[in-house]
Amino acid sequence: MKLWGGRFTKSTDSFTDHFHSSISFDSRMYKEDILGSCAHATMLGNQGIISKEDSEKIVEALKEILVEIENGQIQFDEKAEDIHMNIETILISKIGDVGKRLHTGRSRNDQVALDIRMYLKEQITEIKSLVKELIEVLNNIAEKNVETVMPGYTHLQNAQPVTLAHHLLAYVEMFKRDYDRLSDTYKRTNVLPLGSGALATTTYPLDRNFVKEQLGFDSITLDSMDGVSDRDFVIELLSALSMIMMHLSRFCEEIIIWNSQQYKFVEIDDSYSTGSSIMPQKKNPDMAELIRGKTGRVYGHLMAMLTVMKGIPLAYNKDMQEDKEGVFDAVDTLKMCLPVFTRMMETMTFNKENMRQAARKGFMNATDAADWLVKQGVPFRDAHAIIGQLVLYCVNNDKNLDDLTLEEYKSVSDVFTEDIYNAIDLDTCVNSRKVEGGPSKEYITSLINLNKEVIKEMK
Ligand code: ARG
Repeated sequence: MKLWGGRFTKSTDSFTDHFHSSISFDSRMYKEDILGSCAHATMLGNQGIISKEDSEKIVEALKEILVEIENGQIQFDEKAEDIHMNIETILISKIGDVGKRLHTGRSRNDQVALDIRMYLKEQITEIKSLVKELIEVLNNIAEKNVETVMPGYTHLQNAQPVTLAHHLLAYVEMFKRDYDRLSDTYKRTNVLPLGSGALATTTYPLDRNFVKEQLGFDSITLDSMDGVSDRDFVIELLSALSMIMMHLSRFCEEIIIWNSQQYKFVEIDDSYSTGSSIMPQKKNPDMAELIRGKTGRVYGHLMAMLTVMKGIPLAYNKDMQEDKEGVFDAVDTLKMCLPVFTRMMETMTFNKENMRQAARKGFMNATDAADWLVKQGVPFRDAHAIIGQLVLYCVNNDKNLDDLTLEEYKSVSDVFTEDIYNAIDLDTCVNSRKVEGGPSKEYITSLINLNKEVIKEMK
């Protein structure tokens, strides 16, 4: 008979068992379920709700079950529905009637809310450390490339020269925000729902604060109906993970472009590339493509969960069992993508010379040439027009601004002197942008140092 079978006269159909069972995916919360039950049983004993002796017996048996699960000695049963009832059933089979006292003053509704919060807290901490590692690797690569000039793009058209360090640190900023978002999500996950009961707490004198301390939560939920039916923290986490995937995906897209024969800015290491079954020459950026592709499934889980929650009346409804597979898959996906991406970056070769050559194309120093004229007293709009004329001349004669003779410059404006060449030199273009946020070596070095401090503070 089912643990809840008292009021039923027929057993469930096997379709029913298979359809509503969640053990195939919630079994991964076995540790959280057991630790939560241990804290609950200890509290029941302390409060005199069950005897101390029974409470100790329950805790001891639960700890044995934990070891047995970890040793692979336990087979879960689909008929027992979920991890909560599987463990309770095993407990009862071990210690009989005493085991039947564990569920006093508790519902699976607050139990599952507890388990998933505990499970996700650990996952958030792991993912934060993976994000931290990535930030560290990018900051280190940046440190070696404060002078690596490369094209900066808008519309994927050459715009102004930047450095590889400047470009990489843009991603460091994104991942720093991601890290903060995870910390923020953690705060709202770190609230204990146990004690909410099915929806309206219980008549037993529970000590929720004791359980909170035992399980390392920051605080307790303040309304039991919200306590059992809140899944905001799942959605927040999915949103934070989606954002990380979006950042990884943008970065992957750039790496795929940079790794192409047309760009050749980088070469992905053999250990992070794969070949073609037909074209012997191929070396494909498959890791980057897969990460870009997997972004879709994480977004999908976010959308799914927002949709699952949108029409659910208070308090618990079975729809909410759908919270787990998506967020588990999202967490697993991030835990695969982040380290692969980090290692791929760590082992990548940067072709500095190709980047610099590319930065020479497309008149990326045109703004600097105009700015130089402005500094000689020419109004900006006139300067813009003068340089525009020179660019057109260069286009028609297949030249760069740097290649023009002083006579050619002077033919458009007699303000030009030899100094123009230094002003439009790529390194000058980069290093005179000393404004905070810009590509100058001076500023970027200070940002790299700041990031080192930020990384130290990351736990
Ligand atoms: N397996 C369920 C879930 O994941 C546990 C809670 C079941 N509660 C209930 N009243 N049927 O949500």
